[in-house]
Amino acid sequence: MSGATADWAWWLGLVAGAVPLLALAVWHCTDAFHSAAFAFRRRGTRARLPPGHMGLPFVGETLALIWYFNLARRPDAFIEAKRRRYCYGDGDDDGGIYRTHLFGSPAVLVCSPASNGFVFRSAPPGSFGVGWPVPELVGASSLVNVHGGRHARLRRFVLGAINRPGSLRTIARVAQPRVAAALRSWAAKGTITAATEMKNVTFENICKIFVSMEPSPLTEKIHGWFTGLVAGFRSLPLDMPGTALHHARKCRRKLNSVFREELERRKVKMVTGEGGDDDGDLMSGLMHVEDEQGRRLDDDEVVDNIVSLVIAGYESTASAIMWATYHLAKSPSALAKLREENLAIAKEKNGDGFITLEDVSKMKYTAKVVEETIRLANIAPMAHRVALRDVEYRGYTIPKGWKVIVWIRSLHVDPAHYDNPLSFNPDRWDKSAELGTYQVFGGGERICAGNMLARLQLTIMLHHLSCGYKWELLNPDAGIVYLPHPRPTDGAVMSFSEL
Ligand code: HEM
Repeated sequence: MSGATADWAWWLGLVAGAVPLLALAVWHCTDAFHSAAFAFRRRGTRARLPPGHMGLPFVGETLALIWYFNLARRPDAFIEAKRRRYCYGDGDDDGGIYRTHLFGSPAVLVCSPASNGFVFRSAPPGSFGVGWPVPELVGASSLVNVHGGRHARLRRFVLGAINRPGSLRTIARVAQPRVAAALRSWAAKGTITAATEMKNVTFENICKIFVSMEPSPLTEKIHGWFTGLVAGFRSLPLDMPGTALHHARKCRRKLNSVFREELERRKVKMVTGEGGDDDGDLMSGLMHVEDEQGRRLDDDEVVDNIVSLVIAGYESTASAIMWATYHLAKSPSALAKLREENLAIAKEKNGDGFITLEDVSKMKYTAKVVEETIRLANIAPMAHRVALRDVEYRGYTIPKGWKVIVWIRSLHVDPAHYDNPLSFNPDRWDKSAELGTYQVFGGGERICAGNMLARLQLTIMLHHLSCGYKWELLNPDAGIVYLPHPRPTDGAVMSFSEL
């Protein structure tokens, strides 16, 4: 062998040996760093981290998550890979708890009925907070951001204004004319992109229900500001001109000022008595509702909660309605049963044909379609918390400051809890889900404050759709992406016409 060839072979050997070793070292360094920091802080105790691995430096397992959710389009394989690796027996043997590194932070991921229930409900008070990265984006004094007694007080106000029979009855009346008009306009178009149309009609309805605003150039601007605001929640923490976070902050300021102006206008009206002081909407409800001591919300609380309720309730509901039309288009027998029940209800009605809350309580099959849609859509696949102190769970420690990701989705697609879980089968709701296996609206003290409102909006839409219209997916085999929310890649393009 010549000298030059020997040099070559030597370098080649070095590279072939060193590159994998280096890659292995890089792969382990984040995990080793956080594990060592934890072991040092808790030295002399038997505290141990949950099983798992933290992936690459800085990005952790975020790229793997994106790969599973949006490129491989097998979102459940992310958790399955962990279960295969760390679970030694049946589903709960490892406690349904893993360490990972996601969205820029060390995190613990929980994904079983028991471990989710622990985080949502049964952990000692003060264990977990909501930990929004930029609280002013959601509103510093909004329900989704405050804790303890303040949260309980605000929650009573908000539930009173949107989730109780009295308010739902009014909402049913206010929402239906717009739904009926939207469906007529879709039929006139003949072809629609369901994801877009459902968002538009849901947003218009929310503006009407929350602040009595009719569609106008201003509500279009508001819609754009909400879109910019929501994009900021998921953005990199970089606040400079041109970044999503910077734009989101601007949108938030504009929304605050629009709703603040509206609030001031109403206060003047209250003082002058001009036109009465109750507009019968959510803003009015929040302005007037009183706690046991007769106290009312202050102006910041009213504005912050209006904004955060729109954020929480608008895209989620629109997405649920889109998924209902999608699954029904693929399940003719379910659609036939739905139609039969709703036509029977419609027959009993005279006049405008709008349903009431009393009708809704009779619509048993429709209720099953609603639950099955929400289960399978997994619109909120995870909920986020932060550990406020070291929290012990089944022999593991969730370290203070780490994020806690409650992987709600995995419960709803687990064959141990639902037969053939990925199929759309409203009849499975002939019996209730097993305890702790249905957490579409979260759980515990932060369970969705608008869950009855979401169900009502979906029921109203299903009633008018099934009684008067037919629709067909134009790309029934379109792929599905799962981030930031699950949706067909084409947005569910469908032909749409009167029955
Ligand atoms: C299908 C539609 C919906 C789904 C799947 C959904 C899901 C959820 C989930 C999973 C949570 C818990 C989050 C956590 O624990 O961090 C939540 C909380 C919340 N949701 Fe919904 N939601 C929907 C519709 C709505 C609507 C229509 C509203 C109101 C207009 C609403 C208002 C809220 C509020 C205010 C919270 C926070 C409650 C608190 O912190 O006390 N949601 N939602």
